[in-house]
Amino acid sequence: MIPPTIVASRNDLNTALLSWRIANKSIGFVPTMGALHAGHISLIQEAVMTCDVVVVSIFVNPTQFNKAEDLAQYPKTLEADLLLLKNFTNVIIFVPEVSEIYQNNVLPTQIDFNSICERLEGKFRPGHFDGVAQVVEILFKIVQPQKAFFGQKDYQQVLVVKKLVKALELPIEIVACSTKRELNGLAMSSRNLLLSEQEIKDAEIIWKTLCFVQEKKDKYSIITLQKLATDFFNEGSLCLEYLEIVNAADLSPIKDWEEDCVCCIAAFCGKVRLIDNLVLN
Ligand code: PAF
Repeated sequence: MIPPTIVASRNDLNTALLSWRIANKSIGFVPTMGALHAGHISLIQEAVMTCDVVVVSIFVNPTQFNKAEDLAQYPKTLEADLLLLKNFTNVIIFVPEVSEIYQNNVLPTQIDFNSICERLEGKFRPGHFDGVAQVVEILFKIVQPQKAFFGQKDYQQVLVVKKLVKALELPIEIVACSTKRELNGLAMSSRNLLLSEQEIKDAEIIWKTLCFVQEKKDKYSIITLQKLATDFFNEGSLCLEYLEIVNAADLSPIKDWEEDCVCCIAAFCGKVRLIDNLVLN
């Protein structure tokens, strides 16, 4: 049982992983941008349970922010993050600088994501998934895990990462873990740190709306339910960016309820942009 080691360079990470690799032990990977919360901790717990050693990266990736102010306001709580991780054993915490990740002016990933990147988040955050794919590819190549753990809250991101792994033929299993929620249903997110108490209360309309959609599914046509759910959402005080019921595999608009589908919402709560989703039964 080895308590967490903290490394900042690729070299030091390789050194820390060497004995595990030589012993053919399984490496799990949990990429994060820090500001860790119970959702991240559950990913790490899952990784620790199923892998011999786990790398947790804490890296606020500048290339996935399409607005400079969003990057600037992204919460950075490294000290608290390290404290949260201190009791984990067989965990390596990788905290690189930007120059360590983007060493040789790396170009964006040249993968055809078949419009998955352009829908939903992609429409409102142009270039976001190029940045995500770029950093995840670099991190995967550095860590070379057998399994990587992602939160289902970022549903579209999970699809993009799965596509990336397939296109690059990387031998990595992508494990999507269920969304952790506050008592009022608000999906846990690092961005919640930026919300006031009142805003946390107001933001519960997102989860209430997802439940509304689940409850009313099958009783209405897709178009009608989308309209009813939008009206329901707009009774709250958040500013809706999108509410869409889409195909669970490729995020295209669904034609009938026979398709596996997911309802995805993005909205501003004050200045903070929140996303959430529910796979509909
Ligand atoms: O989900 C996140 O926190 C980020 O998008 C990720 C996967 C760590 C890449 O920067």
